[in-house]
Amino acid sequence: MDSGKFVRVREAKRVPYHLVRLFAKKSIIVAKVLLIMRKKSFWIFAFSALLLAGTDPTWAQNQSEGKKLYLTYCSSCHGDNGKGDGPAAQSLPVKPVNHTAGAVMNQLTDKFLMEIISKGGSAVGKSPMMPGWGGQLKENQLRDIVAYVRSIADPPYKPSGK
Ligand code: HEC
Repeated sequence: MDSGKFVRVREAKRVPYHLVRLFAKKSIIVAKVLLIMRKKSFWIFAFSALLLAGTDPTWAQNQSEGKKLYLTYCSSCHGDNGKGDGPAAQSLPVKPVNHTAGAVMNQLTDKFLMEIISKGGSAVGKSPMMPGWGGQLKENQLRDIVAYVRSIADPPYKPSGK
């Protein structure tokens, strides 16, 4: 009888209550996290955090992003391929340059391109039909566009030149 009690007490002592409690706490945390993950906002947050983590903080110039912007904002006049043959180009009194013509485009500095794209043709003494985009597009987007415009030049643009 005595020894039986002794064994029971010892068995009871062997149950690792601290671990049981820890496990219970952890499962509550896991359950809470699962609940949060069921919310749409969590995924939006997680996804944007991932996107931000993937972006270079210096806003590296991104040609493919620039191409998308070009097709959205510029191709109506400049054409899908930058050849100056967009649907609106016919009615322009001053025609845009063919942006793939490296011989012409490579003479233009990055500064000039940024300026005419952000402030418009009139700001650089060119046709006011070229609108300024600085109000709509962010600086990094303008740089992406310049990177794209540079990438379609033939002969290719050599940054060391200017
Ligand atoms: C409404 C028509 C129109 C739209 C839209 C337009 N442009 Fe232009 N762009 C022009 C015209 C016209 C000129 C020619 C200006 C001149 O030579 O006097 C021009 C000139 C330029 C030039 C100087 C070289 C050249 O082609 O003569 C660059 C670079 C340029 N545009 C980039 C862009 C970019 C980038 C976008 C989009 C963000 C854009 N343009 C949207 C009409 C447009």
